Amino acid sequence: MSFGLNEILSKRILKIEDSSTIKYSNRAKQKKLAGYDVIDFTLGEPDFDTPENIKQATIKSLNRGDTHYSAGPGILELREELSEKLVRENNIDTIAQNIIVTPGAKQAILTIMMVLIEKGDEVIIFDPSWVSYEACIKLAGGKPVRVPTDPEYGFKPVNLSEYITPKTKMIILNSPSNPTGAVYGKSILQEIADISIDNDIFVLADEIYEKIIYDNKHISIGSFPGMENLTFTVNGFSKAYAMTGWRIGYMNAPDYLVKPILKYQSHSISNVNTFIQYGALEAIKGPQNERDNMIAEFRERRDILVEGLNKLGFKCDVPQGAFYAYPDVSEYGTGEQVTDALLEEADIAVIPGIGFGKSGKYHIRISYASSVSRIKEALLRMDSLL
Ligand SMILES: Cc1ncc(COP(=O)(O)O)c(C=O)c1O
Repeated sequence: MSFGLNEILSKRILKIEDSSTIKYSNRAKQKKLAGYDVIDFTLGEPDFDTPENIKQATIKSLNRGDTHYSAGPGILELREELSEKLVRENNIDTIAQNIIVTPGAKQAILTIMMVLIEKGDEVIIFDPSWVSYEACIKLAGGKPVRVPTDPEYGFKPVNLSEYITPKTKMIILNSPSNPTGAVYGKSILQEIADISIDNDIFVLADEIYEKIIYDNKHISIGSFPGMENLTFTVNGFSKAYAMTGWRIGYMNAPDYLVKPILKYQSHSISNVNTFIQYGALEAIKGPQNERDNMIAEFRERRDILVEGLNKLGFKCDVPQGAFYAYPDVSEYGTGEQVTDALLEEADIAVIPGIGFGKSGKYHIRISYASSVSRIKEALLRMDSLL
């Protein structure tokens, strides 16, 4: 070949970084393959199996012959069930026609960007935030604008209004948050809603961790008066029902934006795998006890992990949601130094906070999707190392 990759790849793809989560989880995998007993806290996925009733509903659907294309926005039964869920649990005034089923929340986010974001448009994300927001914004040609958050006040955005310009098109909100576990209460959400309404700025509310919440109640910004036409509520099945590999999520879009979203979806993915939509229907309609047991287990792990980390000198607030601890490790070095030391010397794999934004320089993210016994073992190993 007489040319380099930089010459043949699109500027779009050259502009985005590899996911740091994948990078560090690959490092952990390599060490495991080399025979080490690695305790892997890198993964953003529940370590539980998908509940049996969901699997059986999917098998039934497959055997029934649901193996053809389905309607682009998703099967009607599922959209109806999801809209009723949003009305009942999230206080969002919606109907099935506003629901679009997508292959995961991630694809819903990319679709929204591709449909609404134009070159030069600014999209606000909070620092730290999940790794793929920045990439999705850039893929659509937009400019990510990072707003710092204050760890002393539940990772609330600091001086948000000062970052609004005539080019600001959207704010991405993620509560409960990956990586911090922060859950936003009514007053922060009202501040964001006021800014959005005053300036006609869209809000993309990524509520994928909605059900993994411990002490607070989840509040959807899409339920605030005036936000109906400005909010995309994005959610999915990956985290609440341990269905990461199934690839199914959904969005609730404002009326007037459903058609353009569907235009993009029809040319990109056509529809979500048909029989998996029947599995998702069972997830939402069927018994919720396995989901509730999983959340209770996450709570126990969180309490053990956070207490242990604080005893070791890592400064770690109790996360209110999701399944991540996000301690400040500045006592021992930068997040990257601590991550390397933990992997090299204690066979513990975590993600350095810098991957989620520059405010994460002295943090690490620990996903507690590992059993209580592995968490206790990890705390013992950390103790010996430190
Ligand atoms: C904040 C956040 N949003 C979205 C996703 C993607 O979810 P899905 O598996 O539904 O695409 C993740 C997955 O890690 C996440 O952490």
